[in-house]
Amino acid sequence: MHLIAPSLLSCDFLRIGEEIDWINQSQADWYHLDVMDGQFVPNISFGLPVIAAVKRRASKPLDVHLMILQPEKYISDFRKAGADSISVHLEACTHLHRVIHQIKESGAQAGVAINPHTPVQLLFDVLEDVDVVCMMSVNPGFGGQKFIYRTLQKIRDLKEEIVKRNLSTKIEIDGGVGLQNAEVILKAGADVLVAGNAVFADPNPAEVIHKLKSIAVNSFEF
Ligand code: DX5
Ligand code: ZN
Repeated sequence: MHLIAPSLLSCDFLRIGEEIDWINQSQADWYHLDVMDGQFVPNISFGLPVIAAVKRRASKPLDVHLMILQPEKYISDFRKAGADSISVHLEACTHLHRVIHQIKESGAQAGVAINPHTPVQLLFDVLEDVDVVCMMSVNPGFGGQKFIYRTLQKIRDLKEEIVKRNLSTKIEIDGGVGLQNAEVILKAGADVLVAGNAVFADPNPAEVIHKLKSIAVNSFEF
């Protein structure tokens, strides 16, 4: 069964406690938290104190997506703030293998995020060590962008490799995901759908999560 991870980047920050309350009650599986440093991506979002506050109220795992340079400096801080999984960008890590193990040693699940232009094959040498691949289907930095359809082939290529090696690595798709494209993304092999704008811009966000969760996919098409 696939997982749904609403991205709090698009929530109403003035009412974040209430947003967390309804997400706790919804069919969402994870909280997706986007940390941006204004260096790796051209935007600044939120950081450690906000994540620690979300942790106090959230009843589901926190999936922290670090869009920052030198993420290795902050792994233990994000873990202490309450991250259950931490994704670093392949493009931000000179020593990716080392950072993956640093995340695992912190006790969090290890994720690697890749930008739309990055070949997924660049991950193949570390795949055994990775719990989640966060595949960006927009250029990271902003919510509400359009899904890049070339990502579908990257999902298929990665799924094929994961199945071939009998791994349990999850494929998470992040950016431009909504009811209009969720089925084709799941059919390509996605395990986790991140959704920001599609959820929070809707008058009935819990219903969008319910619909995303209810999509039935019987087989992959790669
Ligand atoms: C983009 C972030 C995403 C973003 C997704 O840089 O990594 O998690 O919040 O938002 P939507 O679903 O609106 O594209
Ligand atoms: Zn994200």
